[in-house]
Amino acid sequence: MIDPDDPQPEEGSRRPSSDTLSERDFVRLAVIIERHAGIRMPPSKRTMVEGRLRRRLRVLGLPDMNAYCRHVLDDGGLDGEMVDLIDAVTTNKTDFFREIEHFRYLMGTAIPALSRLPHRPGQDRPLKIWSAACSTGAEPYTVAMLLLDRASTGAPIRHEIVGTDICTEALAAAKSGVYPLDMAKMVPAPFASRYLMRSRDDGNPTVRLVPPVRQSVRFGHLNVMDPVYPMATDMDVVFFRNILIYFDKKTQQKVLEKLCGHLRPGGYLFVGHSETITNMDLPVKQVGSAIFVRS
Ligand SMILES: C[S@@+](CC[C@H](N)C(=O)[O-])C[C@H]1O[C@@H](n2cnc3c(N)ncnc32)[C@H](O)[C@@H]1O
Repeated sequence: MIDPDDPQPEEGSRRPSSDTLSERDFVRLAVIIERHAGIRMPPSKRTMVEGRLRRRLRVLGLPDMNAYCRHVLDDGGLDGEMVDLIDAVTTNKTDFFREIEHFRYLMGTAIPALSRLPHRPGQDRPLKIWSAACSTGAEPYTVAMLLLDRASTGAPIRHEIVGTDICTEALAAAKSGVYPLDMAKMVPAPFASRYLMRSRDDGNPTVRLVPPVRQSVRFGHLNVMDPVYPMATDMDVVFFRNILIYFDKKTQQKVLEKLCGHLRPGGYLFVGHSETITNMDLPVKQVGSAIFVRS
């Protein structure tokens, strides 16, 4: 998993070595990654990718980067390596209550509006919420905490929350529901006291979500570049935040079209605050900052 804060040295300062990728091999890997996952790999990512692939060398018992590239690019090792390669190059930065205005809108505006639609999602049938690039799960678990909290103070909202991602390591972390203590800082105190349990291991301070929160979310592997998504086509809410930035315009349009096909009319699409989709041809209208309603 790539840390967005990994250093990015100047291209001109590079020296070829057995511990680095040649330009040709980097480009070949970049093409494979973009075709498979949609993630653009400009030259500025080369050092970051090298850093991440060094761990794969150790796991595979390969002596250097050249041996890794021969294994993956020339000797038929790609199929067996694809999952780990993609895990290595994804950026999984996430937080609980990230871009909190979205969650305020969800609870204060979107859910009340959805509950007035035919079949009254949340009442007559479960409200269907999909976090389509959920990383380690903070986004769907934030929704779970908010819905559980609402149930404790008012009428419960029936719900089904699904989190999907391409990164298998991130999904494993999501399923465990265990997070570094630092991530708990983003959880408002009343929610933290109700829904987070502190580990007793002071050497490795973590928090774990309480079972009702963990049990509220189902997780699954899904590459949004796949031609078909095995998901309901009447989702009430789709979160697709902080992923479009990794795709080029054509891929963004293609993926968003497909996601819109999984939203019911009147359903909501949330994208990241720094992501613009207003100039795209999509069956949605904007109703808030990075918030759209399916027409
Ligand atoms: C920066 S995280 C965003 C997580 C969360 N949505 C948020 O805003 O906090 C981007 C996520 O997109 C996932 N991703 C990248 N390409 C993907 C693809 N083709 N299909 C599904 N997920 C993908 C990455 O694995 C990563 O977990």
